[in-house]
Amino acid sequence: MKQLDVCLTPDLLHLHNLNNSIVVVADVFRATSCMVTGLAYGVKSITPVATIEECKFLQDKGFIAAAERDARKVEGFDLDNSPFSYMNERLIGSQIAMTTTNGTLSIAKAKVSAVKVMIGSFLNLGALANHLRSEPYDVLVLCAGWKGRPNLEDTLFAGALADALKDQFMLLEDGTLMAQRLFDQSRGNLMASVSNSSHVRRLQRLGIQKDISYCLQTDLYDIVPILRGSTLVAMN
Ligand code: MLT
Repeated sequence: MKQLDVCLTPDLLHLHNLNNSIVVVADVFRATSCMVTGLAYGVKSITPVATIEECKFLQDKGFIAAAERDARKVEGFDLDNSPFSYMNERLIGSQIAMTTTNGTLSIAKAKVSAVKVMIGSFLNLGALANHLRSEPYDVLVLCAGWKGRPNLEDTLFAGALADALKDQFMLLEDGTLMAQRLFDQSRGNLMASVSNSSHVRRLQRLGIQKDISYCLQTDLYDIVPILRGSTLVAMN
């Protein structure tokens, strides 16, 4: 039987052997929710990069560039990190370069040794779970967290995915069981569960309210973003 593990922060990724694993990167607030939304709305591809410099390089090459640090848009770039910014007709068919504080950094770490890298959020939870059932590989859910620390929202997502896949995958590690139990206790009321989380407080301080409830919606989109080379596309 395949195994599903959870890595609560990218700083613990070195503890996992990824030779036979698909890594699902989750940054629920908000990077991976933006990626899912953008690709669902018709963006052609999203190239995630770890640094502002790489993002600027791609912007100079003609990409539409999205750059976020500490939840704020970086000056000189085209897009911020709100999923609502990706629901825009002018982005249909476009190639986007993106850098964010934790989400794109996690993708950069995962792609070094994962068999495949896929993108997870509550918005595409069911589609992702269905796809993973059909794959022959183990799964590691990599929670992007915040600057090396675990966070509630990504752990909740990891627990939701583990819960959806518990009949097809072994859940053996304590980190995985912690995530699943957290999700189980929060079932039906995700908003209450994250209401005092550090990133929710950070987003609220910045007046970014509507992104929080948007990103907690389950199964809005039937797409699975996958990294092909250095670029995320919606899997056919
Ligand atoms: C990140 O990658 O850390 C985020 O998506 C932060 C945010 O803009 O909410």
